Amino acid sequence: MTDDIHRFDDHSLPSDDFGLRAPCASDIDAITQACRDALTQKWLPLPNPYRWADAQRYVEEFAPSQLASGNGIVRVIEVDGEVAGVIDLKKTDWRAATTEIGYWVAPAYRGKGLAGRASALLADWALREQGMQRVEIRAAVGNIGSARAAKAAGFGYEGCLRSAGFTHAGRVDLEVYGRTVEDLARREA
Ligand SMILES: CC(C)(COP(=O)(O)OP(=O)(O)OC[C@H]1O[C@@H](n2cnc3c(N)ncnc32)[C@H](O)[C@@H]1OP(=O)(O)O)[C@@H](O)C(=O)NCCC(=O)NCCS
Repeated sequence: MTDDIHRFDDHSLPSDDFGLRAPCASDIDAITQACRDALTQKWLPLPNPYRWADAQRYVEEFAPSQLASGNGIVRVIEVDGEVAGVIDLKKTDWRAATTEIGYWVAPAYRGKGLAGRASALLADWALREQGMQRVEIRAAVGNIGSARAAKAAGFGYEGCLRSAGFTHAGRVDLEVYGRTVEDLARREA
């Protein structure tokens, strides 16, 4: 049966020393552990306490529904067969051809450039192969690691949205970083 809903292709994306692939049931333990981490809990409004059933729902319900509805796509960042993090496209507007990247990296894998490289890979794919014109990353003011990862991925700082997000500590201003099809063309010129 065909329908009019636009969706991302359910692809795995390989890279040199990591890959992006669909989440599966055997990832639930690792996702549970990483989502209990203090830094992840500080910047992402995840359930607290974070239970195994939260990760199970994320893998078995949320991720497939994002893909099926066209709202986005969830990929595990895999390193040496392990879950090193999760990255996704979300809030996709197919008419405007815009989407937003979100991510976390598990504590043992931080500081190796993984979030930046995974973001560059996913953004390139969305812009080159999935018809997106613009990808953005929004990082809470003060989330230095996320801001640096966005810049490392080739996203440019565009401004700050007041009270646009929330964490467990309260509302936060969000810095916006963007990357467009024109940026790709400029890089290749
Ligand atoms: C933000 C996060 C995803 C960064 O992941 P990462 O793989 O460690 O990021 P990278 O290694 O690509 O870091 C990019 C740069 O930021 C630096 N960096 C990373 N974490 C940092 C921190 N806490 N403070 C200062 N610099 C930091 C890295 O050294 C690197 O610097 P470089 O560009 O000079 O090489 C990770 O810290 C995380 O999961 N945080 C909790 C969840 C979160 O904040 N998600 C993002 C919400 S918008």
